[in-house]
Amino acid sequence: MIPTDTNQTVLLDHVDMRMVVANGDDEVKDRNALVKLDPDHPGFRDPEYRARRNAIAQIAMTYTPGSPIPVAPYSELEHGVWQTIWKALLPAHREHACAEYLEAIERLSFSADRIPQLREVNERVQAISGFRLEPVAGLVQPRVFLENLADGVFLCTQYIRHHSTPMYTPEPDVVHEIVGHGVTLACPQLAELNRQFGRAVKRVRSAEELEILSRVYWFTIEFGVLRENGKLKAYGTGLLSSAGELEEMHQAELRPLDLALVTKQTYDPTHFQPVLFCGDSFEMMCGTLREYLVQW
Ligand SMILES: [Fe+2]
Repeated sequence: MIPTDTNQTVLLDHVDMRMVVANGDDEVKDRNALVKLDPDHPGFRDPEYRARRNAIAQIAMTYTPGSPIPVAPYSELEHGVWQTIWKALLPAHREHACAEYLEAIERLSFSADRIPQLREVNERVQAISGFRLEPVAGLVQPRVFLENLADGVFLCTQYIRHHSTPMYTPEPDVVHEIVGHGVTLACPQLAELNRQFGRAVKRVRSAEELEILSRVYWFTIEFGVLRENGKLKAYGTGLLSSAGELEEMHQAELRPLDLALVTKQTYDPTHFQPVLFCGDSFEMMCGTLREYLVQW
């Protein structure tokens, strides 16, 4: 995400980049230098934050899929970041989120005071849709990220943005992962669409085909909007995890959810999305995506 003059935020996401440079295949000699932050990262000059980022990256690097996820060591300042974001999101969700999302977030009943641990998120999400979040530290290639969805696995960051910029993060953090993806994966229809994306990606044969499916994922699961009783509502995780994005979506140029057009639309993840694709309803959006994805 990048800061704007209104201190709103935009999302850089899985299909693009993560700032952790080491990955599970590398031999990392210095466990205190796993996470490389750019000099303009808000946490660059904060040794405590960097130590926590390294500790959290280490959790992911030593994690064995299927085993209980270790507790991430958040500070009180970081729980404060969660509180600030939650306070901004609560009214924004009521105003701009689709009914299915509101139902799912209520069912999960997260605390407004503490960042939930992935283990507790998993207990609740798995019981609803079978999906689980698994920590990941290294760069996630789009194909790896998307293919894991087929098996009901969402590869997930566990750190939170720096406390000095609660409304801004240059990379997807645990707020986006939990408030965006975790909640939508607790909606059975959206969870199933994620699975279908994964299955479709497993069938692609070229980089061009992968790019097409990445775009469809971006403009639907990440930045999808729809009509609900005549009003514009969000079901996309990038929108639903940021109060700034939810406000800004009303300024976007809306186009009908025609997937042939979506596949031709490029995007810049460093800015608010000037174009969004809008389903006529939640059911129409699900049906359109389902039909499209099974053809792959
Ligand atoms: Fe995302």
